[in-house]
Amino acid sequence: MRTLIRHGTVVTPAGAERADVLIEGAHVARVADPIDVEVDRTIDATGRYVLPGGIDVHTHFDMPYGDTVTADDFESGTVAAACGGTTCVIDFATQTRRRPLREALDAWLAKADGKAAIDYGFHVAVCDAGPDLETEMDALLAEGVTSFKVFTAYPGRLMLDDGAIFRALRRTRENGGTVMVHAENGGAIDVLSRAALAEGRTAPIEHARTRPPLAEGEATHRVVALAELAGAPVYVVHVSAAEAVEEIARARDRGVEAFGETCPHYLLLTDHLLDQPGLEGAKYVCSPPLRDRRSQERLWRALAAGELDVVATDHCSFRTDQKAAGKDDFTRIPGGLPGVETRMSLLFDAGVRHRRFGIERFVALTAERPAKLFGLWPRKGAIAPGADADVLVWDPDREITLSAATLHMRADYSPFEGRVVMGAPEIVLARGRPVYEGGRFVGRVGAGSFVRRAPRTGAVPT
Ligand code: URP
Ligand code: ZN
Ligand code: ZN
Repeated sequence: MRTLIRHGTVVTPAGAERADVLIEGAHVARVADPIDVEVDRTIDATGRYVLPGGIDVHTHFDMPYGDTVTADDFESGTVAAACGGTTCVIDFATQTRRRPLREALDAWLAKADGKAAIDYGFHVAVCDAGPDLETEMDALLAEGVTSFKVFTAYPGRLMLDDGAIFRALRRTRENGGTVMVHAENGGAIDVLSRAALAEGRTAPIEHARTRPPLAEGEATHRVVALAELAGAPVYVVHVSAAEAVEEIARARDRGVEAFGETCPHYLLLTDHLLDQPGLEGAKYVCSPPLRDRRSQERLWRALAAGELDVVATDHCSFRTDQKAAGKDDFTRIPGGLPGVETRMSLLFDAGVRHRRFGIERFVALTAERPAKLFGLWPRKGAIAPGADADVLVWDPDREITLSAATLHMRADYSPFEGRVVMGAPEIVLARGRPVYEGGRFVGRVGAGSFVRRAPRTGAVPT
């Protein structure tokens, strides 16, 4: 099958230019202006951008949480991703305490098997560092799992102590892996949240009040210092507070390979949304919590200035009836928001259309930097000869109104309900095959494959 995308503005690593893109089978064959060859299908992309498919490096599909499980599994999650212009996700396989890391990978491979509509990879979340941590990490790298999430939050459940985090960092210096950190001071947060409950403060807004920005700033400071001490890179997930951005920016200034990710909800929503009656506030509970305008503005500046590298989603969807578990106790509200389907349009609208940055930076944040940081480059993240033909024909003028009623994610609400955004995919190709076209999913459940990722062989590519 040969497809020619003609007359679009193609965003390549060299910049945005008018060009044609020839796709042969599952790969990009040529990018040139013009290309005149016989093909099976020609797509006219006049007035459109031609972009690398989005890579969302932070999703939680089919994730157990207490006695429930996230609303989206690998089928609905990847179908939703495809419809929003994301053609590859990296999900989290979470270790069960006192069990081998490998078991987590096997469990998540089984959850995704035959269900994913787009390609997927896994990070492994380490919740318990046993004596074999280092060799277990090495073995996972050999399987194409090159990144490991650790937590400074959730004591007794997920949190690792500084020594264990330092061990993981030291090992990635040797084995070319990457440590990702959920950076909030779990001990302080635990004390604050128990005190709130003891005083009868049980509403969703207390979730934000007991996880203050400084708790994120402190943990971020600590983990970038540990990375510096280990001589290893570190990637801070879901950065939400200005205090955390400052720590990453300072670390980068002194030469530490510190990278950060934020999410659309931190860029576009604020903490006042938690201060609503009943379950309304619970819908917006996630960790770290939504912040104020000051943090929001700092995040936008960091994205434009290159102080943060990635916009991912932390897609972790629960229905309202699941959120209701915490109606009398904010600590029991399942944390997380749906977002895998809306990331690209939200960021294009608020970032590119509102002139916070250009189309090249949009591509860097949504595809190129994620690919380079997580061992997918140059196979994914770029429109270039030899790369996977994960390609978006992106209509910058298409206006859509976001609503749970029309989105494909299985949560029964959208945190962006009613928001009008401009910019959306018109056609989405995943390894050369259409997965979204004509306003609907046209791919095949099960067509996505597990992608083995490559370890770093030196500094993270710039
Ligand atoms: O509240 C959130 N973010 N839930 C997802 C798990 C995590 O910590 O990333
Ligand atoms: Zn996290
Ligand atoms: Zn997460």
